Order: sequence, then C-alpha cells, then structure tokens
Amino acid sequence: MLLDGHKIAQAIHAEIKDVLQKLATHARKPCLACVLTTKHPASASYVQRKIKACHEVGIESQVFHLQPHCTKELLDFIDKLNLDPMVDGILIQLPLPPHIHLLEVLEKIDPLKDVDGFHPLNAGKVLLQDPTAFNPCTPLGIKVLLERYEIDITGKHVVILGRSNIVGKPLAALLMQDAPGCNATVTVAHSKSTYLKELTRTADILVAAMGRPKAVEADWVKEGAVVVDVGINRVEALASKSGYKVIGDVDFENVKNKCMAITPVPGGIGPMTIAMLLKNTLKSYYLRNKLQLP
Ligand code: GUN
Repeated sequence: MLLDGHKIAQAIHAEIKDVLQKLATHARKPCLACVLTTKHPASASYVQRKIKACHEVGIESQVFHLQPHCTKELLDFIDKLNLDPMVDGILIQLPLPPHIHLLEVLEKIDPLKDVDGFHPLNAGKVLLQDPTAFNPCTPLGIKVLLERYEIDITGKHVVILGRSNIVGKPLAALLMQDAPGCNATVTVAHSKSTYLKELTRTADILVAAMGRPKAVEADWVKEGAVVVDVGINRVEALASKSGYKVIGDVDFENVKNKCMAITPVPGGIGPMTIAMLLKNTLKSYYLRNKLQLP
C-alpha cells in the first residue's frame, strides 16, 4: 500500500480552510512569517511551497530575504517579528549560513510563535507531553499520516534511522508518548550504530531519516513492515528539465514489494510536513488569541 502524503495533506488543508472560513468576518487571519538567510535553491523552493500552501487555506504569509553578516542582525530581526502582534508563526528556514549560531537563533524565537517546534522550551514540552507544545512538523506529519491510514503503532517497534534535532530525536519523543497515535517502543539508530541491518529487520515501522540516497535496501526490511521515507536527496538527472530529481533514503523500487506500506518520495512526508506547519500556525493563532482549539 502506498501512503499518499499528498492526498492526506490536501485533506488537512481543506479542514484548515474550513476552520478559517468559520472565523468571524472581522477577525484578522493567522499569519506566518518566513525568513530566508541563504540563496540555496532548495531552501527557496521549500519556502515557496509553504507560502503557496498558506495562500491555499487562507493563512497570510510574509517572506523576508536576509543575508546576515552576523548573528546579531538576525537576532534583531527575529525580535521585530516576536513583537509584531500580527505575526503568529515565525519560521527561519534552515540551514543557516555557517557563521550564524543556530542555537542562539532558535532560542531567540518567541516560543509561542515557534511553529517549527525547534525552541528548547518546545523540545522540552514535547518530552513532558505538554499539550501547548509545538511538535516539529516532520515528526508530527509522520504520526498523523500513520493515524489517517489507521496504522496502529501501539506496542510496535519503531526503528528510526537518524538522530537529527529536526526529525530523529523529536520523532522518538513523540511516538513513545502515552497518548493516542503513539505508545510505540522506539529505537533510534545513527551512523555509529553497529549491527544496523539486524536492528532494522526487527522494525515493525522503519523510519529512514539519515539523508543518504537509497541507503535502505530490501534486505534491511522485515516482510510486512511499514516504511516511512523522510529523505529528500537531490541527485543529478540529465533527462529532467531542472537537471536534478529528488529521491528518498529508501530504495523504493526494491523495498515496495517487501513491505506492507511505504511512503513515496516525492509525495510522502514532504507534503505532510507543510500541512503540519499550517496546523501549528493555526494552533499558535488560537493560543495567542486565547481561543478554544478546534
Ligand atoms: N529545513 C529543512 N527542514 C526544515 C524545517 O522543517 N523547518 C525549517 N525551518 N527549515 C528546514
């Protein structure tokens, strides 16, 4: 079975649009501010997609192009967004230029506007299962996709390949929670893990998030497992108009025959990440306006 993230994300967009259409006519709309600090084509394209999705559902958006010479310039700009009452969500597109201090930047974002869920306060709230936490969008997108396909992970062994702060670590914290759609037994593996293949073959749900094209081969996967591919690797493709194509961390063609369900790349977790960004922006709007969450 193909886990169609594009289709589920579209359904979530429609739900958000519906909620926003029911807001009082005089109420201001939620607003997401995105900050780009590099000229990476991939980053620009991700931000474009986020803005397009906002527009589709009726969330206002702003995009700022900054090329900070030092961390302080970016911190001052974030302060302006923190103080702007019209801005509900702040997204600093990563990666940052190498001379900028990532943690200083993430810590500067008002935790109530931290729709990426990267601020240490939100990371802690996820661990403590505080309902006001902003879960990072990719982990939340994985959880929601599995839920919408009625794949119950209660008591199942989830093996996560990759320990990044954006995906691996927060996904482990989320899926092990004592909460609906969670309750998994989670193992996080990484580049220093030994007996990797033996480990992944014990996974009921295998999440590939290590950023290595087609690294997960068929013999890494247990018959009947669920495979979630978080990889977004741009590889050269001369036949393509853009000169590149996007492939995942899973060898899709060979793995798809062995597993019970699999996410494609593109069209799997990518669109779910964007749908969760919209959901988090809506959540921020509701929390900041002290409204009851829908
Ligand atoms: N770069 C890659 N993924 C993400 C994400 O989820 N949020 C931000 N801000 N930058 C990213």
